[in-house]
Amino acid sequence: MKNSHRVAALIPAAGSGTRLGESIPKAFVDIDGVTLLELSAAAARSSGVVDRLVVIVPAELESRAAQLVPDADVVVGGAERSDSVRAGLAAAADADLILVHDAARALTPPTLFAEVVDALSAGHPAVVPGIPVADTLKHVDADGTVLDTPDRAPLRAVQTPQGFDAALLRRAHAGGGDATDDAGLVEAMGVPVRVIAGDHLAFKITTPFDLTTARLLQEARR
Ligand code: CTP
Ligand code: MG
Repeated sequence: MKNSHRVAALIPAAGSGTRLGESIPKAFVDIDGVTLLELSAAAARSSGVVDRLVVIVPAELESRAAQLVPDADVVVGGAERSDSVRAGLAAAADADLILVHDAARALTPPTLFAEVVDALSAGHPAVVPGIPVADTLKHVDADGTVLDTPDRAPLRAVQTPQGFDAALLRRAHAGGGDATDDAGLVEAMGVPVRVIAGDHLAFKITTPFDLTTARLLQEARR
């Protein structure tokens, strides 16, 4: 669908990557010479639906990020992911629609950005990609004893890019709340969030296993 809105993509890349355990912040780790930040920016750009890129990075890597992604606005992030998203929002004042996409989801297909924007253009104010959960999930207590086993059929593992009406996302972040995803803040306002089909390639590179997986997938692609 041709969309007439002005779309900004915010790419939070200001995390340290503690679970990955590399010596540099995660978004600046590379797959075959190309950083996760560059891969994520390239996916957003080549989707054809993004008018403006804003990348949010650690203060000490601001000029490096400007070299890596010269067509993006570069801003400095904060202590929590939500703080970083708020820094990005402040730099995207003119957008009608905002996509928030983790730099760590570096292999996300460009088509997923377009699908999120299509659903926004169809009138959904908040849209997130999600995939059915393959494993059985358990609620456990602090000792690791199972409390119960939820039905996994209605559960979805959600990904990014998450898309929002820009004014809605600004309101959701105005209270300064924290959430591991932006949709969580929008849900808390009582606004419906629509889940569309996600993509396994949009997985978040979190652990060394994920980075190895991403490197093998890129190798297989070539
Ligand atoms: N992020 C951010 N600012 C923060 C924390 C996270 O911009 N203060 C970004 C990360 O750079 C990443 C995305 O949010 O692209 C998802 O976060 P996550 O996968 O948790 O990355 P890290 O916080 O870097 O990793 P960890 O939690 O293992 O330290
Ligand atoms: Mg984190």
